[in-house]
Amino acid sequence: MKDELILAIETSCDETSAAVIKNGTEILSNVVSSQIESHKRFGGVVPEIASRHHVEKMTYIFEAAMEEADVTYSQLDAIAVTEGPGLVGALLMGVNAAKALAFAHNLPLIGVHHIAGHIYANRLVKEMEFPLLALVVSGGHTEIIYMKEHGSFKVIGETRDDAVGEAYDKVARTLNLPYPGGPHIDKLAHEGKVTIDLPRAWLDPQAYEFSFSGLKSAVINTLHNAKQRGETIEPADLAASFQESVIDVLVTKTKKAAEEYKVKQLLLAGGVAANRGLRARLEQEFENSEVELIIPPLSLCTDNAAMIGAAASILLQQGKFSDWALNANPGLEL
Ligand code: KG4
Ligand code: ZN
Repeated sequence: MKDELILAIETSCDETSAAVIKNGTEILSNVVSSQIESHKRFGGVVPEIASRHHVEKMTYIFEAAMEEADVTYSQLDAIAVTEGPGLVGALLMGVNAAKALAFAHNLPLIGVHHIAGHIYANRLVKEMEFPLLALVVSGGHTEIIYMKEHGSFKVIGETRDDAVGEAYDKVARTLNLPYPGGPHIDKLAHEGKVTIDLPRAWLDPQAYEFSFSGLKSAVINTLHNAKQRGETIEPADLAASFQESVIDVLVTKTKKAAEEYKVKQLLLAGGVAANRGLRARLEQEFENSEVELIIPPLSLCTDNAAMIGAAASILLQQGKFSDWALNANPGLEL
């Protein structure tokens, strides 16, 4: 049988990426161009700058992905693209490029949900077995998602306020660390000790909801109070204490959900899945569990087009194509 080949595009935030995926599971190429350097001095992503970068890089990126995969357009089965959620201007760049390519080469178009993409990054590591749970932790999302089959997503718990990546970035800013702060806090946390008592928002112990804004405020207050008293706080210890508090809640609730829902697999997904502390604690907690833990390699945790291609392959098999009315949808529901 002929191999299924998909060219996927991802531009929802500040990475311009294109990938060629074979049979939904094999990466032939995954080119990612990060704009972090351009946004750093503003302490966050500037939407207009992001859109402009996508326009400048786009053509080069998908040509590089095709060349690296050694594939021609006539061999492709579809063009896939992230349709939302994300920054509207950034999404539009990818959607319009994908439409133009699909039209020019007479190929079907497949719109993909960004979070479905993060979850399906795991399919590039191991075939998914249902039912499963995905812990999605990114800059905009903190959710536990139950999947009984491909394409079926039920959110069983989410954050009431800040997403975990957002809390990392805000705490990092308080500690004068560069954007995006998550990786810097992660590194600092490994150099420090858990010496500061910070809150853990357990909320309703029976529910799988999260809250990180109180923890973020507690970190800011701790720094402020110490300054007023003329005391110094070791940033590494504060980072270690913050990270411990985040991981305690995330892992405890996820483990409970995995047991209650009797799942076969737990998938970790989203940018914060790159966190060394979180990966290590999950591995420890699930070491003797019947639930199989899958964690993508670091390159597939942060935004990339390979994950979009993996998710699109299922939509292609299910015949779920998009039409020419496909549009960027910044608030797209899963
Ligand atoms: O999934 P992603 O690349 O973009 C969104 O869809 O949001 O996630 C980006 C988020 C940022 O908040 C970043 O600080 C965080 O992931 N992040 C981390 C780490 N690497 C990235 N947070 C904690 N530890 C890390 N190692
Ligand atoms: Zn993302």
